[in-house]
Amino acid sequence: MSVEVNLIQELENIERSGLEALAGVKDEAALQAWRIAHLGRSAPVMQVFSRLGQVPKEQRATIGQRANQAKQKLEAAQAELEQALKQAALEHSLENMRLDVTLPGRTPDHGRLHIVTQTLREIYKIYAEMGFQVYRSTDVESDDYNFTLLNMPAYHPARDMWDTFHTTRPGVILRTHTSPGQIHVMHERCPEPIRVILPGMVYRYEQISARSEIQFNQVELLVVGQKITFGDMKGTLLDFARKLFGKEVRSRLRPSYFPFTEPSAEMDIECFVCGGAGCPVCKQSGWLEILGCGMVHPVVLQNGGYDPQQFSGFAAGLGIERIALLRHRITDIRYFWQNDIRFLEQF
Ligand code: DAH
Repeated sequence: MSVEVNLIQELENIERSGLEALAGVKDEAALQAWRIAHLGRSAPVMQVFSRLGQVPKEQRATIGQRANQAKQKLEAAQAELEQALKQAALEHSLENMRLDVTLPGRTPDHGRLHIVTQTLREIYKIYAEMGFQVYRSTDVESDDYNFTLLNMPAYHPARDMWDTFHTTRPGVILRTHTSPGQIHVMHERCPEPIRVILPGMVYRYEQISARSEIQFNQVELLVVGQKITFGDMKGTLLDFARKLFGKEVRSRLRPSYFPFTEPSAEMDIECFVCGGAGCPVCKQSGWLEILGCGMVHPVVLQNGGYDPQQFSGFAAGLGIERIALLRHRITDIRYFWQNDIRFLEQF
């Protein structure tokens, strides 16, 4: 057999076994090893090239051509497989690291107004529609404004209705109600007529329980003019109750006592939990007390600078937490200032 036939045969074998080996290659590492073995410097096909010198001249071209062919075939097969492996790897990673853009995101917590602020704003709105201005007075008061000028001189027994936080400065206290604001407005506005609401925090030296807190919000009402009647008061308060609790709400004024009003009353609305039949919320009475009110006492008008012969007025005071509590059936007043997010986020 001539050298030519031998080498051609050998190249055929080299090519076939290379391709066979390649068929078993399943990953890039194996492909790399295959490339070194079948196309590297000491690969069989390369050795054929280095042996070409020993081949008789007239056969060299044929054999060289065939060797080139074999090498190119192996290279092409290798390139094709490399491409296929890369594609497979890409598909694999797309499959496994898939990002589901349809998954709902995490909603960020967003702040909201405290239930007391919400209630206050509703109340402001209702009174704004009736032409009331908002007047603010201070949380720290003198004993005079909180009591004396409101017709409760020193040692007046009615002072016991309000357990008071005193400060180290004699005569300086935390207001126990928003009523002292009445005197401030009167001093500022006299002799003009007055139609204001006075919102704010009030303080009471009390045992904290489900029903009472040491601080809470009130909104005071004050109307002073030349011909203000009890009927004006009733109409204003009824209108307010209807706007806050609903058009159908039934209400009643019950005689009461406050030193700064005469006559005095308390306003009840029909219990909206039981509809008046009696339940634990209304303590079986069918009614819920929502505010205290009355015609401004002549002494108080006078202390404010208004002549009680010419002027009359009405006042009212309502507790905001109490109203929010009733409307939302909250069972414990302490929730309002505990800052528990689970409570706050419900409103
Ligand atoms: N200041 C009273 C309190 O805190 C509430 C009140 C009652 C205010 C009658 C008024 C009123 O203006 O007329 O208990």
